[in-house]
Amino acid sequence: MQTKILLQDHQIPKHWYNVAADLSSLPAPILHPGTLAPVQPEDLSGIFPMSLIEQEVSHERWIEIPEEVLKIYQLWRPSPLYRAHRLEAALKTPARIYYKYEGVSPAGSHKPNTAIPQAYYNRMAGIKRLATETGAGQWGCSLALANSYFGLKTTVYMVRVSFDQKPYRKNLMELWGAQVVPSPSRSTAVGRRMLEQSPDTTGSLGMAISEAVEDAASHADTNYALGSVLNHVCLHQTVIGLEAMEQLKIVSDYPDVVIGCCGGGSNLAGLAFPFVRDKMNGKQVRLLAVEPSSCPTLTKGRYAFDYGDTAKLTPITKMYTLGHDFVPPGIHAGGLRYHGASAQVSQLRHEGLIEALALPQNACFEGAILFARTEGIVPAPESSHAIRSAIDEAVKAREEQKECTILFNLSGHGHFDMSSYAAYLGGQLEDYAHPEEHIAASLADLPRVK
Ligand SMILES: Cc1ncc(COP(=O)(O)O)c(C=O)c1O
Repeated sequence: MQTKILLQDHQIPKHWYNVAADLSSLPAPILHPGTLAPVQPEDLSGIFPMSLIEQEVSHERWIEIPEEVLKIYQLWRPSPLYRAHRLEAALKTPARIYYKYEGVSPAGSHKPNTAIPQAYYNRMAGIKRLATETGAGQWGCSLALANSYFGLKTTVYMVRVSFDQKPYRKNLMELWGAQVVPSPSRSTAVGRRMLEQSPDTTGSLGMAISEAVEDAASHADTNYALGSVLNHVCLHQTVIGLEAMEQLKIVSDYPDVVIGCCGGGSNLAGLAFPFVRDKMNGKQVRLLAVEPSSCPTLTKGRYAFDYGDTAKLTPITKMYTLGHDFVPPGIHAGGLRYHGASAQVSQLRHEGLIEALALPQNACFEGAILFARTEGIVPAPESSHAIRSAIDEAVKAREEQKECTILFNLSGHGHFDMSSYAAYLGGQLEDYAHPEEHIAASLADLPRVK
C-alpha cells in the first residue's frame, strides 16, 4: 500500500510535450488587436523573447528543456504523487484517488514550472525586467522567485481584491525582490482610465494584464510574462503530467479520470495534455476541467475570438470567453477569476476531448477541509475545485460500487489563504449564481472577426 510515489532527480523529463503536434485540426490564427489580421512574430517581439514566440507557434511534439532550467527544477521536482488512502477511507469509496502535489515548489504552486523557463529565456535575450499580473499572488510569487535566480527585476500588478485579501503574498513577492502594485493602479494610462470609469472596482486579471502589457510595451528593457493561458505556458507545465504517467506506471495503474481546476488552464493542461495523446490513440480516459460557477468560462462562455485583457492591448485568440469586460465576483479562488481560457484547452473542449464542470465556492471549501482533515495538506482555494470534483467522482464510484482510478492536480498549498479559510469557517462565504446578465452584457462587446 504505497502512499508516496517518488521519482529520482534524473527522472525529471528532459523535454516538454507540445500538444499542438497532436491536435486533430489546425489551431485558429492569433489576430492583431488593432488590425484583426494574423499576428506575425515581429508583432509580439516588443514584449516576448523570440525563443518563447517560437514555442508559442511550434508544432514540434517534444521541446528540449534547457540544462539551466532542469538544474532549478531539481530543487523540488520530480514532485510527489500521493495515493489518498485516508481520503478514500473517509469516503468509503472503492475508487483509488491519486494527487500530484505541486505545492512543494518554493512558491507553493505549479507556477514556477513556467516562471523558471520564462525568466531564463528573457535573461538569454538580454532583458532586465519582467512585468506581469497576478490574481491570488501565486504567479507573482513564482515570477519573483524565478527572476531572483536569474538576476532580473520584477513588477507585479496584483488584482485589487487579492491585494486586500492576501497581504502575505505581497510580502513574499517583495521578499523575492518584486515591486507590487495593486491593480488597477495610477502607474499606467490604462489603469488610470479604469479607475476613472469605476473607482471602487475589485479589479480583474483582464485589467492587470492590460497594465503589465502597457508597462512592458513602453520600456525597451522590459518584457511581459504571463502565468497561464498561452501555449508556451501550457507546454512548460507538461512536466507535471509526464512525471505522473511514470509514477502511475510504478504502481501499475492508469486513470479513468484526470482532473484539474481551470483558471487560464495551465495546471489542467500540464497534467492532462500528455493524456490527450493517449486518448487520441484510443485510451479510455476522461479529462475534466473544474471552474468556479461565478466565472464559468468553459461551461457558460462562448467559443469565439476575444482579447486576453480588458483594455484590448493583447492579441485576439479563439477561446471560450465570458467577454473581456467581464468582472467576476470577488471569490476567494483569485487565480480562477479570468474571463478567457487557454486556446488549446478551449479547442480540446470544443472538440469534446476535455469536459468541463462549474462548482460554487462553499462546496469547494467543504471539500478542501475534508481533504485537510484526512490528508493533512491545506489546499489553495483554486485547487479545492479539483478536490471537490475528485470527491464527487469517488462518491459516485461508491454509489455504483465500481472501482476506478481518479487522478487530480493539487496545484498549490493554501498557507497564505487563511483569511479565505477563516471566512469559510465563519460562515461568511457567499455562493454567487451565474451572473447571466453580466455575461450577456460583456459578450455583446466581442471583436467582430469575420
Ligand atoms: C494554486 C493555483 N492553482 C490554479 C490556478 C489557476 O491557474 P491555471 O488555470 O493557469 O492553472 C492558480 C492561479 O493563480 C493557482 O494559484
